[in-house]
Amino acid sequence: MGNEYFEIVGGNPLFGKTKVYSAKNAVLPMLAGAMLTSESVVIKDCPHISDVENMVKIRECLSLKTTWHGRDIVASGKVDNNHIPEHLAGVMRSSVFMLGPLLVETGKVKLHTPGGCKIGARPIDIHLDGLEKLGAKIRLLDDGVECSADRLHGAEIVLRYPSVGATENLISAAVKAKGKTTLIGVAREPEVVSLCDMLIGMGAKIQGAGTSVIKIQGVENLYGTTVTPVTDRIVAGTIMLAVALTGGKVRVEGCDIRHLGALVTKLVSKHFVVIDSVGGVTVESDGQIEPFDVFSGPYPKFPTDLQPIATAVLSQLRGESLVEEKVFENRFLYANELQKMGAEINVFKDKLLIRGRSLLGADVTATDLRGGAGLVVAGLKAKGVTKVSGVEHIDRGYENIEYLFSNLQAKIARKNV
Ligand code: UD1
Repeated sequence: MGNEYFEIVGGNPLFGKTKVYSAKNAVLPMLAGAMLTSESVVIKDCPHISDVENMVKIRECLSLKTTWHGRDIVASGKVDNNHIPEHLAGVMRSSVFMLGPLLVETGKVKLHTPGGCKIGARPIDIHLDGLEKLGAKIRLLDDGVECSADRLHGAEIVLRYPSVGATENLISAAVKAKGKTTLIGVAREPEVVSLCDMLIGMGAKIQGAGTSVIKIQGVENLYGTTVTPVTDRIVAGTIMLAVALTGGKVRVEGCDIRHLGALVTKLVSKHFVVIDSVGGVTVESDGQIEPFDVFSGPYPKFPTDLQPIATAVLSQLRGESLVEEKVFENRFLYANELQKMGAEINVFKDKLLIRGRSLLGADVTATDLRGGAGLVVAGLKAKGVTKVSGVEHIDRGYENIEYLFSNLQAKIARKNV
């Protein structure tokens, strides 16, 4: 655990203008998929967050060139080995995105059991099952998995669940496979569509991105391109939820409201107004929104990544609400921390029953990325001082969250123990 923490004095409405950058969950698979060509792939407007920095480190270990130019990342070079160091695979789940592209480029990959947030079992059976159908040989090891193949071949693959990561991995593996691949029951998240945009820009032949069936005609070679990924709907949603809780008026540049339908329909009311205009949205709230229920699920349902932040808000609204988590089986660890602030939350296996009330600032600990962001948002409204430790989890997905909110007139600072 690091020495830093966020100190938040609650009770200030948010006002001002902010900007969201390219989605972490689009940039990460792009940094993996870019190795499918040695030419330059330019990924625009990337966030400076530790998950992206770690993916850059993994690329460097594979001898791939990765340079920042302001916010743009230029990825190029030919992979010359297949070794992802254990300490890097351990810190982030996204190392699993390397599996498909590395297998295509080197013919053999060993992946240590991937890390990431502690929010459930997070197996990779759907990735492996799909790669096997594309012709890979899979060997399960005590500490990970080994995949090997000569050239992959096209196949028809039915995913037993629309896993985002597996969809992205299988697309990245199939674009250079011999023949035609049909992926059925895939994830429809905007980040999947964005990855496909990049691969199509590189010369891949992909149809159906954003629907449940994706068809791919394999090609021999891919080339350099420039891609502007979708902006981060989870960061944008975090800001909206914070404004709904504290009240205020905030312009979110770059926010694409079309990707946040499930959240916006919960919030819009006489107490919360969204004005969509060119280049972003403005949200305004009197801080008096009514409680609502949340059922997370694959896109376009309510994003599981916003579930903890919604709970942080609901726990401070007058009235009862139900939160049902349908994607990850262990995503309520943060509820304990909200309880330290006085939240009345009954935790069931995959449900929370919340009775909203005013919260009091307390010393709390982030145990995962989005749960940590939820604690920060809770602290923006709670009476008194909240100290959130475990900031390294939050830094994985939010670029200087303390600056993001202090720029909107919140009282929040990063401090050292
Ligand atoms: C991605 C996102 C993460 C988001 C999640 C769901 C990235 C980098 N991360 O994670 O922020 O919370 O989508 O929207 O894009 N599963 C299996 N077997 C598999 C793969 C997944 O059982 O082979 C299960 C998982 O345990 C989980 C569910 O499927 O319960 C969803 O996982 P998945 O969609 O794969 O999430 P990630 O790609 O890991």
